[in-house]
Amino acid sequence: MTDIAQFSLPNSVKIVEVGPRDGLQNEKLQISAEDKIALIERLADAGVSYIESGSFVSPKWVPQMATSSDVFKGIKRKSGVTYAALTPNMKGFEAAMAVNANEIAIFGAASEAFSQKNINCSIDESLQRFESIMQAAKAANIRVRGYVSCVVGCPYDGDIAAEQVAEVAEKLYKMGCYEISLGDTIGVGTPASVQKMLQAVSAKVPVDKLAVHFHDTYGQALTNIYAALAMGVKVVDSAIAGLGGCPYAKGASGNVATEDVLYMLNGLGIKTNIDFEKLLAAGWFISDKLGKAPLSKVSIACRAK
Ligand code: HMG
Ligand code: MG
Repeated sequence: MTDIAQFSLPNSVKIVEVGPRDGLQNEKLQISAEDKIALIERLADAGVSYIESGSFVSPKWVPQMATSSDVFKGIKRKSGVTYAALTPNMKGFEAAMAVNANEIAIFGAASEAFSQKNINCSIDESLQRFESIMQAAKAANIRVRGYVSCVVGCPYDGDIAAEQVAEVAEKLYKMGCYEISLGDTIGVGTPASVQKMLQAVSAKVPVDKLAVHFHDTYGQALTNIYAALAMGVKVVDSAIAGLGGCPYAKGASGNVATEDVLYMLNGLGIKTNIDFEKLLAAGWFISDKLGKAPLSKVSIACRAK
């Protein structure tokens, strides 16, 4: 096949699995540390090389993540796999270091209202807090990923200007984040708005330092990923079984399902080194624990065969 898309798409894509964190943080049913560990080990066994395994945030704000220390302590680590954690402040950073998280992520927003609801401070205040984390991480030789939420729309502020996203992304990048993950937190983007946003951001941050993070609320995630790949993005965040959402974005559904992303990438001949069958099994494992079917069309279709 020699169509135009084939020429512009990457040969390989890195999947950042966020299910154990972004997915489970919003599930009503509490999942035990033991089951989270089993999920993470299944994902690693399937070949997923980057797993966001928990977050060190206030347990009053996000009770589902309260067991993150036990999770990190309990994982049998596989060589070559990065087990990362979300840390909003120094308290979270220290907790993540105490259990040997391999990497951390700081998370800001392109929308003032979302920043306030999510981390209880303004965008500027969040960037100040992140400075101390960046310094401590540098001293500890820990890589830091930076998230920008609400890159297309905000549940409180509505449409978000692409320039505003670019400005926050650039600040995080200049602060030392090695990669910036652009989050369509409420899944409102379409290929047009996503490409417009990516164009503005990539004028400030090199495209090979960008990742995309789509929630599938409006069913646009896969097509938006395709649009991002066509613009040179090679890192895609997704959650096993399409778990989750965001506790501070009412109505936001789960991240795009990793199974669906892998099926699309396999179909495009794009390498990930992930075993499809083992990935499907990991999705059913956690879905059984949650008492529901995976929110992955691919997974449902494969089971029905
Ligand atoms: P605050 O209330 O302003 O913080 O919350 P504080 O410093 O005043 O502390 C209040 C209490 O929290 C104190 O406890 C602290 O000890 C405790 P108390 O004295 O009341 O018992 N505390 C902590 N406990 C554990 N770990 C910590 C920590 N820090 C303070 N690290 C704070 C500020 C940032 C802590 C709070 O707003 C918070 O935890 N927010 C997290 C919200 C969150 O996790 N949201 C979901 C993740 S972001 C997301 O999903 C988007 C993303 O996926 C991308 C996308 O889709 O767009 C990344
Ligand atoms: Mg998210």
